[in-house]
Amino acid sequence: MKGIYFDNASTSWPKAPGVVSEMAGYLENIGCNVGRGSYERAYAVSRRVYETREKLRCLFDAEDNKNVIFTANVTQAVNMVLKGFLRQGDHVLISGLEHNAVVRPLEHLKQTGLTCDVIPCDNLGNLEVTCIEKMIKPETRAVVMTHGSNVSGNILPIESVGRICKSHGLHFIVDTAQTAGLHNVSMQRANISALCFTGHKGLMGPQGIGGFLVTDELAEQMAPLLDGGTGSVSDQLDMPDFLPDRFEAGTLNLPGIYGLSSALDYLNSVDKNELLMIEEQLTKAFIRGVEAIDGLQLVGTADHRNRCALVSVDCLTKDNAQVAFELDRDYGIMTRVGMHCAPLAHRSLETYPQGTLRFSFSHFNTLDEVACALEALQKITSE
Ligand SMILES: Cc1ncc(COP(=O)(O)O)c(C=O)c1O
Repeated sequence: MKGIYFDNASTSWPKAPGVVSEMAGYLENIGCNVGRGSYERAYAVSRRVYETREKLRCLFDAEDNKNVIFTANVTQAVNMVLKGFLRQGDHVLISGLEHNAVVRPLEHLKQTGLTCDVIPCDNLGNLEVTCIEKMIKPETRAVVMTHGSNVSGNILPIESVGRICKSHGLHFIVDTAQTAGLHNVSMQRANISALCFTGHKGLMGPQGIGGFLVTDELAEQMAPLLDGGTGSVSDQLDMPDFLPDRFEAGTLNLPGIYGLSSALDYLNSVDKNELLMIEEQLTKAFIRGVEAIDGLQLVGTADHRNRCALVSVDCLTKDNAQVAFELDRDYGIMTRVGMHCAPLAHRSLETYPQGTLRFSFSHFNTLDEVACALEALQKITSE
């Protein structure tokens, strides 16, 4: 059974055309390290890594190619940024929709004297932007926020929040896990100090590659979380003081970078608005279908526009996990059920502790697949 893959918010599949062959090509025909060997093949790898930084800088409208730092994923990127610059006595604001990638590093930092407050969101996932200024304290240093909720699909108003950050001299850290790819994210327009991304979701690259893009101003205030070999200034015992080497200890994930580079070429070759429209149609059809099923409750906003292509539902007649199990067993429909690593979001959306059943689409899905899922849900919830 081929199956219907509706778990793109966990990791996208299929990947962008070309990703697999590019990675295999690197492993089969190139294979050498970057910044270490003194031969033409190693220089070619350096060029490819540099070009990938450039593609990411253009995609996210960052200051300079050197300000693009590779990590394994967005979780590692967020950890490196937050633990790199926050100090004892600092205060930060986060949204009520944050993923544990943000919440857990901050919980860790609380043990060393950080304080943190949550900007409220209503039960439809709308951020209460008007609360932010009242919550800023003299010791507030940053707002840390997801761009798209992985539970409700809401896209948060990062440009409005970025303006507030700028006027109060705060750093603005954005987790783009659910939006990077088809959605527009500009560091300059949203006054973002550090933009954290993961390569394997909307960017349609492989797992194990991600990173952050950081302004010079914030980078200067950050200590590296990891120390080690960089292939540069090897006579020094300390990490290099220049970017990107200061934050890239150890060998990079080169197959991952080749794959991500190819995925970025794909994204540059398509009409992103057209693909967003496909995702919007799938989301709209699914939401309308869910609203017509008695045993299901839609979680979060019913608006299909300006959102991530994911929809959470709560089953009123059966346990959500049972529904997910039957969808997979009887119809080959793959979803995610539970807390989605975001308990804070579930509290805001009033789905804590039962969690939700989440359907997440990519432009490779079809309206027929959505219809099939709706028919299956109708049957399962009425049995
Ligand atoms: C909003 C959000 N942030 C962070 C993450 C973590 O992503 P990764 O596992 O690639 O680090 C996810 C993944 O589901 C997410 O949805």
